Amino acid sequence: MIVAIRQMKNEARLQDSFKEKLRVLQRGDVVQEILSNISGIDVLFVRCLGLGSVSVSYLAMYQLCLLKLVVDYLNQNLNERNKEESEMVEIKVSLWDPVFSHEDKEFFENHLKYTVEEEFKCDPSSVLYYMPHFPVSIFESVLTEEKPKFILANDLTAYAIKFPETKYFSQYPNCARLTKLITNKAKEESVEKENCTAVKPPDDGFQIVKKKNRKKKNSLVYQPPVIDYGFETAYFKKVKSSIIREGNNTDNPWSSAFTDMSFMVID
Ligand SMILES: C[S@@+](CC[C@H](N)C(=O)[O-])C[C@H]1O[C@@H](n2cnc3c(N)ncnc32)[C@H](O)[C@@H]1O
Repeated sequence: MIVAIRQMKNEARLQDSFKEKLRVLQRGDVVQEILSNISGIDVLFVRCLGLGSVSVSYLAMYQLCLLKLVVDYLNQNLNERNKEESEMVEIKVSLWDPVFSHEDKEFFENHLKYTVEEEFKCDPSSVLYYMPHFPVSIFESVLTEEKPKFILANDLTAYAIKFPETKYFSQYPNCARLTKLITNKAKEESVEKENCTAVKPPDDGFQIVKKKNRKKKNSLVYQPPVIDYGFETAYFKKVKSSIIREGNNTDNPWSSAFTDMSFMVID
């Protein structure tokens, strides 16, 4: 009897916390930025990994609220696309984190109708992976084993600053490959932009004389190691990554819940 009362109290506490945080978060610019990034995708599942325990961490609870807003938005888009169908289609949500408590699981399953499961097999093109602040080693395993297409998770380029390039590639080859594709594309775009905005010198009869580039003899120049990324063996050829800039604004009630995030479309 006492256990049942305690359980009901805990459930009510989680429901109140969820409702309150959902109300606060849905007014945030970060939500609008994320929804506009995922607006074009056509999926039937959301797989959420590494959320953390919502009964312990308020960051995890805010991340759960974002999951709910994302799922509602995708459901709305899905049903608008399938207006002609007689039956409503519902996005299915599957979650896993080994730290989930009994209380967390009850809340996801009873209150939100989400499924808690360690194993998940699905056609990757119909799944949005949501993995906020996910450990890079497990991120690599998910890429290798599940070959996701749509990912809302950590900005992988941050690891290129954290690890030397050779270490990053040898330990997390798919994360490093995606990072390389993203940074190469950003470099190309910035060169293109520079070329477009470069001001042509006026045709006033004067000639610009370039300073001679006298190289110092015998100077030692560091040559970074050349890494063969073996892109031909990867399951993808290209990636479009959008950083969730508003997530880095921590001056909000959700603090660092959405920092260093990006949305990737992998092909
Ligand atoms: C850095 S924490 C992030 C927690 C929370 N999302 C946050 O931002 O505060 C990483 C989470 O990944 C979870 N995790 C570790 N291995 C996992 C696995 N194989 N599958 C799913 N989640 C895992 C951990 O239990 C932990 O909750």
